[in-house]
Amino acid sequence: MTDSKPTLPTPAERAAVLRTEIEQHNVRYYTQDAPTVSDADYDALMRELQAIEAEHPELVTAESPTQRVGAAPQAEFGSVRHAVPMLSLGNAFEEDDVTAFDKRVSDTLRNAGLLAADAQVTYFCELKLDGLAISLRYEDGLLVQAATRGDGQTGEDVTANIRTIKEIPGRLKGPAPKVLEVRGEVLMTRADFERLNQAQAERGEKIFVNPRNAAAGSLRQLDSRITGQRRLTFFAYSWGEVQGLPRGESDVYDEPAPGVREASTLPRDSHGDMLAWLAEIGLPVNVAHNHRAQGAAGLMAFYRQVGEIRADLPYDIDGVVYKVDALPAQRVLGFVARAPRFAVAHKFPAEEATTELLGIEVQVGRTGAITPVARLAPVFVGGVTVTNATLHNEDEIRRKDVRVGDTVIVRRAGDVIPEVVGPVLQKREGDPPLFVMPTACPVCGSAIERLEDEAIARCTGGLFCAAQRKQTLLHAAGRKALDIEGLGEKLVDQLVESGRVKSLADLYSLKGAELAALDRMGEKSAENLVQAIDKARQPTLGRLLFALGIRHVGETTARDTARHFGSIDAVMNADEEALLAVPDVGPVVAGSIHRFFAEPHNREIVDLLRQQGVEPVAEAQPQGTTLAGKTFVLTGTMPNWTREEATMHIQAAGGKVSGSVSKKTAYVVSGEDAGSKLKKAQELGVTILDEDGLKALLGQG
Ligand code: IVH
Repeated sequence: MTDSKPTLPTPAERAAVLRTEIEQHNVRYYTQDAPTVSDADYDALMRELQAIEAEHPELVTAESPTQRVGAAPQAEFGSVRHAVPMLSLGNAFEEDDVTAFDKRVSDTLRNAGLLAADAQVTYFCELKLDGLAISLRYEDGLLVQAATRGDGQTGEDVTANIRTIKEIPGRLKGPAPKVLEVRGEVLMTRADFERLNQAQAERGEKIFVNPRNAAAGSLRQLDSRITGQRRLTFFAYSWGEVQGLPRGESDVYDEPAPGVREASTLPRDSHGDMLAWLAEIGLPVNVAHNHRAQGAAGLMAFYRQVGEIRADLPYDIDGVVYKVDALPAQRVLGFVARAPRFAVAHKFPAEEATTELLGIEVQVGRTGAITPVARLAPVFVGGVTVTNATLHNEDEIRRKDVRVGDTVIVRRAGDVIPEVVGPVLQKREGDPPLFVMPTACPVCGSAIERLEDEAIARCTGGLFCAAQRKQTLLHAAGRKALDIEGLGEKLVDQLVESGRVKSLADLYSLKGAELAALDRMGEKSAENLVQAIDKARQPTLGRLLFALGIRHVGETTARDTARHFGSIDAVMNADEEALLAVPDVGPVVAGSIHRFFAEPHNREIVDLLRQQGVEPVAEAQPQGTTLAGKTFVLTGTMPNWTREEATMHIQAAGGKVSGSVSKKTAYVVSGEDAGSKLKKAQELGVTILDEDGLKALLGQG
């Protein structure tokens, strides 16, 4: 037999294959709201096609997905021709891409005489919201039409659905422009997404894979009553056609007519000022996170700052967007086929990826909870390689219909444990069997029980189960509990399996020599561990309470309880009523603490700990007690601190942060672009601080 080697495709053939594939993904993503590849995989296809086209410009056609955005609108909705096309954004992935963008912009602006030789470009930085782009058309201040982006030229008419979003005003405040097209993102918060999926599951209806798809699916409903039942939200970040701005506003993209602007009125000739004006006339603008920055270094600083708070945001973002702030400079930079040259999206590492589900195993936790864990073909997601992901519980596996052998979507957001989002059903082969929960604990053989009304199955072995004992010890040794450095999983495995350590108290009798004899332990590390254990003989009372692993008692509750009672005996002897007097402790927590100490073997552990010389020390009272119980409201953008940072500092000093101003508000901290909260504070005579004032109050001035 002759061996016929497959020949490599020519660039033209490869480009054709990529175009077809990208078109199919566009339809699944934009029209069906049901993508089958992750954003990262999609970006990779797009980049490959862009690279081929860059090398072979003769292959570029107007129809290529690199030259257009989105997918053609669906016929069920009326179509809307955009007066100004809705474009996409170029992407930056690495720092080098950002530096190159800044260099291109600076060079062009210097050549045009718009930037001094030694000056840096001012950018307006925003979050890249992961929802869907919408254009809202206001005529004489009234909302007359709303459209999706569609293919960038023509979108779908979703006016009726948009009217159900309460953040979007039907009428603008103040003197109205003749025409104003507001562009922005419709999105769903993660909490609303979870709630929606739960309700969908209860009704046996479609489960959405992420908030973006849920938002798109909800907005593109033919029956707007359905949209109305879904909580969607909106942020404005740009504009399209603008005609007849009220006096004092610049003409945005049209050259201002000479002499029109009055010297006494505020010019709006920057992107940031335009957004501030949109906020003034009643549109939701993401003031908390928008920020001005200088040059590439300023952009990178913003990127890093946002990266740190990304996981704490209530909604998904997939990057940040940098826009040249000055509108005249934007005009000079202009556009390429599908994106402006004056802006770029700097993407975060993708939080979702697809991979193969190799198997499902179960893990036993500290309280006996059995968690099914997915074993995965290694996949790079959220910046790390993931091989295991949680499947939460049996019901979740059924709800998501995940089966061994499936191609699955894996998500790793921030430091959150990776999870399996769901299968890509199009790729399933045959009818693989459903997962069944084992009836006996794989570690100790005790029965696995699942109480009615509970989603979680549990091993009934208690501390007889080596897995539960190990997890209890690891929890107690953790950083927020007794903080015993060097007591890791491998060591705990050996100590429990040999029977040497049965309870927390046994840890304190460990000797250097016996530790040094264990696997992977040298004399030095054994000695260090003995010292770390010794140091843990005087934990604060809060840490000890947390270390005991009482159900429903987290780090904060443990600390509050410790502060309230002052000694372990007082906590052990408190009845439920006494426990309810601790701030933020309700009946569930009080009952749990009381039951824990009613168990003789738990009291015995406390006795054994004492015999080993463990003496908790009193919990320090909160610092800066002047702020204790004081309520703060934050408004506008502070020059240095993000809202999250300011909140953290205020809380650390004993204060509280609230969302609305009332007579009870002690201070309003006001930054740039402060809104109605500042006005209300002035009306009520509440003390107003800026960032420096806040720092001084916190003793950080
Ligand atoms: S500006 C002409 N700003 O990202 C530029 N877009 O990849 C118009 N997006 O279609 C877009 N957050 O759906 C802009 N702060 C933001 C954004 C943003 C999310 C989306 C938008 C756009 C896509 C481009």
